[in-house]
Amino acid sequence: MTPVLTRRWAAPRSWSIESYESLGGYAALRSALTVAPGRITELVKQSGLRGRGGAGFPTGLKWSFLPPADGGPRYLVINADEGEPGTCKDIPTMMADPHSLIEGAIITCYAIGSSFCAIYIRGEAVHCLRRVTHAVAQARAAGYLGSDILGSGFDLEIVVHAGAGAYICGEETALLDSLEGRRGQPRLKPPFPAVAGLYARPTVVNNVETIASVPAIVSGGSDWYRSMGTEKSPGSKIYSLSGHVTRPGQYEAPMGTTLRQLLVAAGGMLGGIPLKFFTPGGSSTPIFTPAQLDVPLSFDDVAAAGSMLGTTALMCFNETVSVPWAVWKWLEFYKHESCGKCTPCREGTGWLVQILRRVVSGHGTLEDLDTMADAASNIAGRSFCALGDAAATPILSSFKHFRHEFEDLVTGRTAPVVQVAQLAGA
Ligand code: NAI
Ligand code: SF4
Repeated sequence: MTPVLTRRWAAPRSWSIESYESLGGYAALRSALTVAPGRITELVKQSGLRGRGGAGFPTGLKWSFLPPADGGPRYLVINADEGEPGTCKDIPTMMADPHSLIEGAIITCYAIGSSFCAIYIRGEAVHCLRRVTHAVAQARAAGYLGSDILGSGFDLEIVVHAGAGAYICGEETALLDSLEGRRGQPRLKPPFPAVAGLYARPTVVNNVETIASVPAIVSGGSDWYRSMGTEKSPGSKIYSLSGHVTRPGQYEAPMGTTLRQLLVAAGGMLGGIPLKFFTPGGSSTPIFTPAQLDVPLSFDDVAAAGSMLGTTALMCFNETVSVPWAVWKWLEFYKHESCGKCTPCREGTGWLVQILRRVVSGHGTLEDLDTMADAASNIAGRSFCALGDAAATPILSSFKHFRHEFEDLVTGRTAPVVQVAQLAGA
């Protein structure tokens, strides 16, 4: 497959507007502005593009949920708060090819009738914030932003906003609260942002990779886009490979590519040590074992195999890794990032971490394992937002495949994977 999203990444000064334009950039915008906005939404619907932030919601459908124009403002908010452990696709996209995001944002705003777009970038990614801010200024100077863009009568301003380093602000409604200047905590849904989002106005919230896919769809058409990937998950995708692989990084491939195929591109497992387990879409998705190496990585195929495609963050762990150790590390993360709004997640993640610290240091009991399973089951499905479910997932899915490793630790059949002294700084 010819790369779509990453095709400019290796070009000299790929982030500059000159490089972008010389490789066909902003041609899609010019052609989009010559047709009615509704036709762009229709095209995106026909392309089958599904949200790349993790949930896979159909993009064109989401745009069409906006209520009819009432003369008031409506917004596009781009979720660039990439924070799911193992996920590294949006920040490289913004670093290497920020204009694909900006061009996609302008086309999307034209399609949905919005004159204001905010790009909410993860606070730690200061380099990325600078890169995108610079690219927005370049686009403005070139006449792609501001009033009467390319003589079309369409006006648009893009504001780049830095988050402050909270994972929960990647949840779309917490992100909106944060943008409004409040502490980022999830809102009750419905109403969905499409109906009442930023400042309670209709808002489309889309991920970076989703929006960066739009110019290619406008240029290539929906049939071309559908010629890649699977029927229900069309198109091309950036997979992030990390962990014990020879060449970790971003690999673009059609939706439905398997980890076995991606590992070939990535030079195989590091040092030839076999794979033990992997996440198909970040730590929030149930783990897979080598038995799932040939599962097509599409939304539906991964769901049918018992997990979620999530952000296509393929964290690969070899046979040297203790599963309880990995689960403990993930749970420390979720406990730290729990926003505290609801009891199951706030209290539950704390209890799980306390028990896991006992287990990995060799002080746990078999009863502790039952308590963990019970607590995780009570967090999942009873929390206010997806973070609670995500925190329960490593426990529940690792117990499904590797409960014996936890039992070996608490019965002393294997040595502790961490010393109590090391836990002091955990
Ligand atoms: P969701 O399934 O609740 O919603 C998906 C999108 O569809 C949202 O934008 C929502 O507003 C919209 N939507 C759903 N039903 C709708 C309706 N009836 N009307 C209008 N709009 C509707 O999923 P959510 O909570 O937004 O995302 C969860 C996913 O995020 C997880 O699967 C996880 O993989 C991923 N995630 C990604 C991270 C990252 O760094 N990219 C970080 C953490 C989680
Ligand atoms: Fe906050 Fe966790 Fe509840 Fe989500 S599930 S609202 S992160 S406490």
